[in-house]
Amino acid sequence: MAAMPYPSGTITNSIGHLEIGGCDVTELASEFGTPAYVFAVAEMRDRARAYQSAFAAHTDHFEVLFASKALPVTAAYRLFAEEGLSVDVASGGELTMALAAGFDPSKIYMHGNNKTDAELDLASRMDVGHLILDSFDEIDRCERVLGKTQDVLVRVTPGIKPSTHSFIQTGQLDSKFGFGLEDGTAARAIERTLASDKLNLVGLHCHIGSQIFEIEPFRLAVEALGALRGDWCRILDLGGGLGIAYGEEDSPPSIGEYVNLKIQAVRDVFGNDVKILIEPGRSLVGTAGVTIYRVGTIKEIPGVRTYIAVDGGMSDNLRPMLYDAKYTAVIASRPNDPADTTVTVAGSHCESGDILIRDVDLAKPRVGDILLVPATGAYGHSMANNYNGMPRPPVIFCEDGEAEAVVRRETWDDLMARDM
Ligand code: LLP
Repeated sequence: MAAMPYPSGTITNSIGHLEIGGCDVTELASEFGTPAYVFAVAEMRDRARAYQSAFAAHTDHFEVLFASKALPVTAAYRLFAEEGLSVDVASGGELTMALAAGFDPSKIYMHGNNKTDAELDLASRMDVGHLILDSFDEIDRCERVLGKTQDVLVRVTPGIKPSTHSFIQTGQLDSKFGFGLEDGTAARAIERTLASDKLNLVGLHCHIGSQIFEIEPFRLAVEALGALRGDWCRILDLGGGLGIAYGEEDSPPSIGEYVNLKIQAVRDVFGNDVKILIEPGRSLVGTAGVTIYRVGTIKEIPGVRTYIAVDGGMSDNLRPMLYDAKYTAVIASRPNDPADTTVTVAGSHCESGDILIRDVDLAKPRVGDILLVPATGAYGHSMANNYNGMPRPPVIFCEDGEAEAVVRRETWDDLMARDM
């Protein structure tokens, strides 16, 4: 049987409890309360280093960008800046956080299919290194708003559809993002940008989707982009998308396999001189983070199912409801007891669809147990909401046995902070 997708370094300690980043999970629950997002900092660093060393083995002409939408927390921006990564921001808000965390503006790449005047103006004033152009309207807007010449990439939808949930496929012609290859708009956008005296076209961007396990589509995307090759093309930004394990049965490709394929594909199609950029989000932070909850009620419906309700749900993890995402779980104080009880994990929201996990096998749960759901480090905190007036959980970073709340828990008063 494959292993649970815990952060690396997770152990069962001498009293039989799970320990993450050297911190006993049940103690974290007492100290910081539940629900809480708990991260093993070492795993985030290890993954950032794995990406960089996979490239460095072949070339020094690359940049690894933290796709910050996966975990837009100042401490995460700071950590990846320290690790030497660049950063992908998708809004003025993410840009503001990246700058506040100390990212060198030249290492910031700004995305968005509808950047506002205010966002473009901020990017220009802050000397953001590169904008990724997404539409003809945006090209017009840039020419009007930008205070100076700006390096840009053109985002292309190469017509490649990886097998993942349709909500997170982004490389097909029928997409709100970028310029189509098949319909000739990408070629027109390139021509239009080359003719602009405000915009300095230096390369192409594509991102075909997210949570992808087959790596072949990434090669096909590079081959498709080859049709647009030109002397101006010094940078190829190939987006993110590498999948992670959410459950014991998932086996995603390694970072090394994924990077090697991209390097090889670029060399085959564009030669050795083009700088390769990638934008991992999920695969930097996803398995580094877990969510801990406290079990509050247990409802057995004889012959039907047993529900256990935890103190969070669709406000802290929307992914099961949005993408039918599957998770696994474990009781943090009894990780090695036989998982002999099948239960459905429900949240606390006023909605029947608020189910985090259907039919998961646990050591017989009791009220008060701490339930740990692995692989919630990406797009959990970032898509959290206040449905039913639920305060959002804190983000706890654990490293070498020290735990620190890098984002505090929201309070009931916070819920009214913007009310006039
Ligand atoms: N670059 C661009 C331009 C993107 O749009 C994305 C993700 C990434 C990079 C990072 O992709 P990753 O390495 O994380 O797959 N909320 C969804 C995921 C949406 C991804 C959006 N774009 C989820 O929870 O699965």
